[in-house]
Amino acid sequence: MPIDMPIALPDSLLSRLSDFLASQVGLHFPKQSWRDLERGIAAASRESGYRDVETFIHWLLSAPLTRTQIEGLASHLTVGETYFFREKRSLDILEQQILPELLRARAKTEKHLRVWSAGCCTGEEPYSIAMLLDRLIPDFEKWNLTILATDINPRFLRKAAQGIYGAWSFRDTPGWLRERYFTRRKGGRFEIQPRIRRMVTFSYLNLAEDAYPSLVNGTNAMDVIFCRNVLMYFAQERARKVVDKLHRSLIDGGWLITSPAETSTVLFSAFTAIEFPGAFLYRRIAAAGPRTTAVRHPVPSYQGDWEATAAHAPEVLPEAGGEQAKEAEDADSREHDEREMPQRKARACADEGRLAEAIDWCEKAIAADKLNPAHYYLLAAICQERGQSEIAERSLGRALYLEPDFVLAHFALGNLCLSGGRQREARRHFGNALTLLRACPADALLPESDGLSAGRLVEIIASAQASLPRAHKELAA
Ligand SMILES: C[S@@+](CC[C@H](N)C(=O)[O-])C[C@H]1O[C@@H](n2cnc3c(N)ncnc32)[C@H](O)[C@@H]1O
Repeated sequence: MPIDMPIALPDSLLSRLSDFLASQVGLHFPKQSWRDLERGIAAASRESGYRDVETFIHWLLSAPLTRTQIEGLASHLTVGETYFFREKRSLDILEQQILPELLRARAKTEKHLRVWSAGCCTGEEPYSIAMLLDRLIPDFEKWNLTILATDINPRFLRKAAQGIYGAWSFRDTPGWLRERYFTRRKGGRFEIQPRIRRMVTFSYLNLAEDAYPSLVNGTNAMDVIFCRNVLMYFAQERARKVVDKLHRSLIDGGWLITSPAETSTVLFSAFTAIEFPGAFLYRRIAAAGPRTTAVRHPVPSYQGDWEATAAHAPEVLPEAGGEQAKEAEDADSREHDEREMPQRKARACADEGRLAEAIDWCEKAIAADKLNPAHYYLLAAICQERGQSEIAERSLGRALYLEPDFVLAHFALGNLCLSGGRQREARRHFGNALTLLRACPADALLPESDGLSAGRLVEIIASAQASLPRAHKELAA
């Protein structure tokens, strides 16, 4: 379709479509953006094999969207405008003011740092952060660095993972950086060094819909979150919810970095705005107000089956009346609380980034209840965050020994193998998870998952599998 094609769709249809997209996908198209909407929806319609855009829109509006449809639409309706070292002022502040202090403090305790690029597009932002850290941390290999990069657009994520860019991505990048961190390829393209590429983990996450903070997708206990030029996609109410969840994904003292164009006292009122020359950054400071108190997720106790909801169901008490029953109930609940306490503490410490303490609490939980697979799963998630993949793998093995149907443990093992380059094993673990998931209702919430449904995990695994090379390629390799 020519770029300047005039709007041809009726306003009433575009209005219905934009309302539908806001509620189903979380994408916001006010009237002034309807031209972009029309262009994107025409491309999505062509990809889906519809010749007539209106028929395609009516078909979309006829039923709730599946996740696959949401991902397909998002890949046509989001804008991939980004480049290396964009809005350099905030990166300079990070490099010169925030990180030196943070790194000095961490060097004395645990050498770890967690950064999230939320809405990472084709990867220029998280790779800029990786290059910055590479320059800033001389004893790099001694640190456990996490750079998580997520986006709603699977095409962008695929391009990001390839790490090959044209000259336009370097429009504001000093030449020496490109020389130092990229290798020239054919056709005037540049490939990022594998060392820098390996520092970044890319994954799909819809900021409007998916659960975070969560240990399952690694969005907890962040030191710094970049969410630049993304909030503009959301209507105000949705943006508020996203900002609230980003706030909870930060540790106390953590930083949210937005674009200067997104500065807002209302939207970021839970944060303390810190003014630097040329930019405002937002800091989560617990004492700043009531909304900054850490919010914990309820921890469902492991049930060993798919009836996650039963974990929250009130216990049925015997009909014995009066004081005696009440005392028995209190004693039961005290005992239950005491048994659950170490696991709750472990999770709370993990949420706050105090990983060594979190491990101590996990070990206490295991000592008190050796046969509970949920404790081993939690221990594995924390060890993985600390970069201790071998211990994490052993711990997941134990969880599965105790509960072979523990789907999140299969999934986590798949991810561990994937990040270790063991693709065949990853495929096997993902396959196990899928077999279990298909046997339960799509909307069942998975135990230990912070509210992840079985259906959603099927889709997450499908997109992880899509990034794996085909089996015959692997065999030939
Ligand atoms: C303009 S780009 C910004 C990229 C980068 N943060 C920067 O500032 O250069 C916006 C990105 O937000 C992503 N996005 C839009 N809606 C999203 C959502 N609901 N969840 C996650 N990412 C989303 C788009 O796919 C796109 O990659």
